[in-house]
Amino acid sequence: MANVTVIGAHWGDEGKGKIVDWLASRADAVVRFQGGHNAGHTLVVGDQVYKLSLLPSGIVTGTLSIIGNGVVLDPWALQSEVAKLESQGVTITPDNFALADNCALILPMHRDLDGLRETAAGSGKIGTTGRGIGPAYEDKVGRRAIRVCDLAHLDKMDPQLDRLCAHHDALLAGFDQPPVDRAKLLDELREIAPFVLQFAQPVWKRLKKVRKAGARILFEGAQGVLLDVDHGTYPFVTSSNTVSGTAASGSGLGPNSTGFVLGIVKAYTTRVGSGPFPTELGDTDGQRLGERGHEFGTVTGRQRRCGWFDAVLVRQSCAISGVTGIALTKVDVLDGFDSVKICTGYRLRGKIMDYFPAHSADQAAVEPIYEEMDGWSETTAGARSWADLPANAIKYIQRIQELIETPVALVSTSPEREDTILVRDPFID
Ligand code: GDP
Ligand code: IMO
Ligand code: MG
Repeated sequence: MANVTVIGAHWGDEGKGKIVDWLASRADAVVRFQGGHNAGHTLVVGDQVYKLSLLPSGIVTGTLSIIGNGVVLDPWALQSEVAKLESQGVTITPDNFALADNCALILPMHRDLDGLRETAAGSGKIGTTGRGIGPAYEDKVGRRAIRVCDLAHLDKMDPQLDRLCAHHDALLAGFDQPPVDRAKLLDELREIAPFVLQFAQPVWKRLKKVRKAGARILFEGAQGVLLDVDHGTYPFVTSSNTVSGTAASGSGLGPNSTGFVLGIVKAYTTRVGSGPFPTELGDTDGQRLGERGHEFGTVTGRQRRCGWFDAVLVRQSCAISGVTGIALTKVDVLDGFDSVKICTGYRLRGKIMDYFPAHSADQAAVEPIYEEMDGWSETTAGARSWADLPANAIKYIQRIQELIETPVALVSTSPEREDTILVRDPFID
């Protein structure tokens, strides 16, 4: 298949960045199609660590990197990320980086509103990244957003600002906050506009050309299926569709462009932020997963909640997102456990369930049914071939494959780019 779409099959942080970086050298273009700088993708190449939130992970290998229309873009976050990567020796120019001119912007008022709402919600908070993602997507679908292309027309912004401020001023009044400072906002936009506009273009047209030339496109998802605004653990989700289908709408290519859908799946489960998590562990096993896996958020530094592998959730994610094959990451984190558990079903008020129900009260009430397997004392860390894996690790991977009804295409055994086992090349039929 010419193209590959990488998506997270859990609640994010599955290791998408590492896998996209590994695949990027085989691709001609890498495209982000949803989310914003709520994402945190970590790439480890030798002794260099790159942390990307907005830029596609292909930028580090110098592959043409594109931000599609489905992304919400904070121009100031983009500027500081570009500066940070340049300080690490990465070159970013309009030759290797393009930005959709129809991307909706995240403005300072969105970030502020995100924070005000979370504080007001108290213990009922979503646990957002505080980046203004939800409010920015609301303005986009509410037809009030300021978009990248508007930065070239800041002198004619009055009608748009009237619309935007009428909405936000009312919301701010509800929080006892002063109205939007329009003059300040316009000044800030004027200052950042030349930086953003140097990269802006009709990305759909660029991608059409790339595709016509027979190039390989790698789509890089952010977050994960369980954070999808339709299919995830609503309302404890992000505000975009994170499923593979969004690669088409969020980049301006048709649905036949997504190619091989590679679901990234951790060998156990983590979640950051609030919301149901059936296999969450509050014991020493959970602590051990967090410590061995260094489970702290890339964006907010928050401790990630940890639990056993949940085959019900992953089977559901794979079905919903049309996953062709998975990349199983962080298998090395399970090294040294005497036994490992896999959730194979749920019990909900005495009834057995083979899927995760939609209602949040039911999601919170399901009890996992576990299957226990022998662990392995040998190390898998750094393994680069199937033959390097201990027999019990292979059994574990094969059992996961069976339960989720989806084959394993890649296995990752450390944060380092090359510590990856290729089972089936997603770029080849
Ligand atoms: P993403 O958001 O899906 O890109 O994932 P993050 O980068 O937020 O979190 C994954 C973390 O696990 C990062 O720190 C990676 O460097 C690390 N990582 C990725 N794959 C592996 C692996 O196979 N083993 C180990 N130990 N760490 C990994
Ligand atoms: P990557 O791409 C993990 C979570 C937040 C919160 C919910 C809503 O690194 O996998 P938002 O700020 O999007 O409105 O927050 O979504 N969340 C993520 N969790 N990884 C991410 O991205 C996330 N992006 C958002 O913690 O629960
Ligand atoms: Mg992350």
